[in-house]
Amino acid sequence: MGIGRSRLETTGTAFHTEFVVAVGIAVLAAVLTVASPRAGAAEGALSQLDQQCLACHSAEGLEKKLDNGEKLSMHVDGAAFEKSVHNKIGCPVCHANTSFENHPPVKTKISSVREYSLSQNKVCESCHAPILKLYESSIHAALLRSGNAYAPICTDCHSPHAVMAKAAYDKASGTPCSKCHDPIFKAYASSVHGNAGLDCSNCHRAHEVTAATAGDQLKDACLACHQGALDSHKTWLPNAGRHFDAVSCPACHSPKAKRRVDLRLYDNAAQQRVAEKKGVPQFESRIRLVDSKGSGLDAMALHSLLTGFNRDGTDNRTTLRGRLEVSDGVDAHRLVRSKGAIQDCAKCHRQGADPFQSVTVSIVGPDGRPVRYGAKPEVLNSMISVDSVGGFYAIGGTRIKLLDWLLALAVLGGIGVPLGHLTINWLVKRYAKRIGGKEDS
Ligand code: HEC
Ligand code: HEC
Ligand code: HEC
Ligand code: HEC
Ligand code: HEC
Ligand code: HEC
Ligand code: HEC
Ligand code: HEC
Ligand code: HEC
Repeated sequence: MGIGRSRLETTGTAFHTEFVVAVGIAVLAAVLTVASPRAGAAEGALSQLDQQCLACHSAEGLEKKLDNGEKLSMHVDGAAFEKSVHNKIGCPVCHANTSFENHPPVKTKISSVREYSLSQNKVCESCHAPILKLYESSIHAALLRSGNAYAPICTDCHSPHAVMAKAAYDKASGTPCSKCHDPIFKAYASSVHGNAGLDCSNCHRAHEVTAATAGDQLKDACLACHQGALDSHKTWLPNAGRHFDAVSCPACHSPKAKRRVDLRLYDNAAQQRVAEKKGVPQFESRIRLVDSKGSGLDAMALHSLLTGFNRDGTDNRTTLRGRLEVSDGVDAHRLVRSKGAIQDCAKCHRQGADPFQSVTVSIVGPDGRPVRYGAKPEVLNSMISVDSVGGFYAIGGTRIKLLDWLLALAVLGGIGVPLGHLTINWLVKRYAKRIGGKEDS
């Protein structure tokens, strides 16, 4: 086809046409050379040395008994290796310590199968430094550093002797993520994105996977593909931007999920969530101080927790920021077509609405994942917490009636909602001062 079109474009210049045909034949020849079945399958592409290694290692069932009793398979699938992107590299490049001269038997001590993987994995770094850099920033690498030997390393996601080009990954099987996150994969497979053929790394990335609820990365990923989403929500949802900040996308788009409110400790001065200081488990010890019975934080305890955080810091910089989200990470993957999403305001803006019956308080933990602690739903209703929970209320969803009333007025009366919000914050502060910290119910 390409040649035919060229001929038309070159309007019969004999030389040019011949040239194009010649190039075409050369390309065809090259393609045929690459694509033709090689004589004797596994031979051909691999070097003689590799074939010699495989003469022993392609034997199924070849294994090595380790000191701890485990068996390490010594089998390498030669045909898969030949098809892999690394087929030109050759065994000795990655196995520099192993040669015909020094084995078998091998004298190196291997204490466990996992320890072997961890040590061999270093070889990938020598050629893929940029990927390693991305990986180092991931939650998986953080887990590994914190001593979780089973957090994924390169060879958990890329079988070392059968690495395929990106295009060859089978998205339908969810590999490599499904190996360890199977319940999520199963839920995801029948979701709107699973059906559309997207995979985990479309949202989470492959190497720089971050903790799911730590920052805005996931929301940003959604909005990078759905660029018109904010505008389309604005057509029916007042203050859609505020909702996008305070309500996670799955909280509306996974309609059957159980929801909760997470009150995140927030540093107002630094404008970021409070994170555990290295080596000082401040959250847990402070929780133990204010809730010694472990029955969940009530309004008084929550207030004391904040006072504790602020005592050695400066002027009330630590506050709480509420976020309505799904309680179970698996449910976050059951996203449905948008006509099934929650649109009914009363699902949230009504007294006793479900999402407000389950409350947690959280801090960013040492590995980047949040550490959560249960609180009693009453903390959202109590005047004591108004200052702490200040930035978070939903009409009717919580029982701070004054707020409900003002908010309803702001919406119905057509006062600009941002203006309404500011006024409310100011009035609340005054009201809270006036009642002098007494509970309203
Ligand atoms: C004569 C058969 C034979 C040949 C040829 C051979 N191996 Fe092995 N290899 C073995 C056996 C058997 C073991 C298990 C040794 C043991 O149990 O201590 C082994 C172990 C290994 C291991 C595990 C390393 C370890 O520290 O235990 C690697 C890697 C390996 N071989 C790579 C190679 C490479 C690369 C080549 C080619 C340069 C090669 N082998 C050639 C038989 C062979
Ligand atoms: C791109 C680098 C690379 C190449 C090329 C490579 N290997 Fe490996 N090999 C590894 C890594 C990494 C491991 C550790 C695997 C793990 O994590 O379990 C390994 C493990 C092994 C093992 C131990 C058994 C196992 O699967 O864990 C044997 C035996 C082995 N390789 C032989 C070979 C032979 C033979 C060749 C050539 C046909 C070869 N390797 C080519 C990287 C490589
Ligand atoms: C000696 C250098 C070298 C080492 C060591 C090496 N690679 Fe590679 N790798 C390459 C090269 C070169 C390519 C590109 C091959 C191509 O595109 O034809 C590649 C390609 C890849 C790809 C596929 C890229 C694509 O096209 O989608 C993956 C995945 C990969 N390597 C993972 C690994 C892993 C995991 C290890 C460690 C077990 C490793 N590599 C070790 C050189 C290396
Ligand atoms: C948690 C699973 C996972 C881990 C761990 C992982 N990878 Fe990958 N990698 C993937 C997936 C999935 C892809 C497919 C590309 C994509 O979807 O972005 C990929 C793609 C690649 C590619 C080719 C595409 C690209 O982005 O350039 C290379 C090279 C690669 N990985 C190397 C590595 C190396 C080296 C390590 C270890 C430092 C590693 N990977 C660790 C899952 C992983
Ligand atoms: C359409 C985007 C998207 C895709 C695709 C996706 N996720 Fe998620 N993932 C999310 C969101 C959003 C959350 C929850 C964030 C929240 O609660 O705010 C999440 C949370 C998670 C969590 C944390 C769960 C917990 O218990 O808190 C894991 C683990 C995870 N995803 C793994 C995966 C795996 C594995 C796949 C592929 C099978 C996948 N994700 C596909 C968006 C996605
Ligand atoms: C070898 C096992 C393994 C593989 C493979 C793996 N993970 Fe993980 N992953 C873990 C473990 C262990 C954790 C920490 C415990 C947890 O949250 O489930 C984790 C945590 C996560 C988290 C953070 C969860 C949170 O609470 O915020 C996300 C997101 C995630 N993985 C996504 C992925 C994606 C996407 C892939 C594929 C590209 C993948 N994982 C592949 C083992 C794995
Ligand atoms: C308060 C509940 C709610 C929240 C929060 C929410 N959505 Fe929606 N979304 C809906 C409803 C309801 C529809 C269907 C509206 C309709 O049919 O007119 C919808 C429609 C959509 C659509 C299809 C229409 C379009 O814009 O292409 C996309 C995509 C979407 N939402 C993405 C998101 C993303 C991304 C987030 C998080 C940043 C999010 N939504 C947060 C309720 C919500
Ligand atoms: C890599 C791009 C990509 C990312 C990232 C992504 N989506 Fe999608 N989304 C799609 C595609 C493609 C479809 C399927 C469109 C179709 O089948 O009509 C879709 C469909 C949807 C729909 C259904 C729309 C409808 O018309 O019914 C919703 C809702 C949605 N996505 C929300 C989200 C949310 C929430 C996130 C983040 C957690 C997200 N998407 C992340 C590409 C993406
Ligand atoms: C999934 C739960 C949910 C749904 C559905 C929902 N909202 Fe909200 N809404 C919230 C939460 C939570 C807040 C609190 C945001 C904050 O102040 O942090 C909020 C805040 C508001 C605000 C105040 C904005 C501000 O500036 O503080 C208005 C007005 C509002 N919602 C109106 C609506 C209307 C009208 C609908 C239906 C079309 C609706 N909401 C649907 C959860 C929801």
